[in-house]
Amino acid sequence: GASGVYQAAEARIVQGTIDTDHAGFSGSGFLNLANSAGSYAEWTVPASAASAATLDLTYANGTGADRPMDVTVNGARVATGHVFPPTADWATWSTTSLPIPLKAGANTVRVTSTTADGGPNLDRITVR
Ligand code: GCU
Repeated sequence: GASGVYQAAEARIVQGTIDTDHAGFSGSGFLNLANSAGSYAEWTVPASAASAATLDLTYANGTGADRPMDVTVNGARVATGHVFPPTADWATWSTTSLPIPLKAGANTVRVTSTTADGGPNLDRITVR
């Protein structure tokens, strides 16, 4: 199996920054993906054996609209437009979860913005 917390700053980021201007994040900052479709970040998640796991995404969305993201694991799409509903403000963090399949060895978990608004701000992911 696999478990662990992966911080925003550990991600490989394509179009985005690590920011600190909204309180309540863990680690050294949160991930602010560019406000464009296709901005993404990915983490490497090691697993000792193939397993069905749960992915928790801790995020903030200080707008009034959902911020959907596609989620892929090892290049295979596991969620299309997974919804990140609004939180009270950018300093209010919530967690949304989905099941993911892991293989033995190194897994690549990627989240990709699907609209021109980009993704929510992401504090961390947890695999359990
Ligand atoms: C604001 C906010 C950012 C956020 C952005 C967005 O600029 O300060 O943290 O990423 O909105 O719309 O995504």
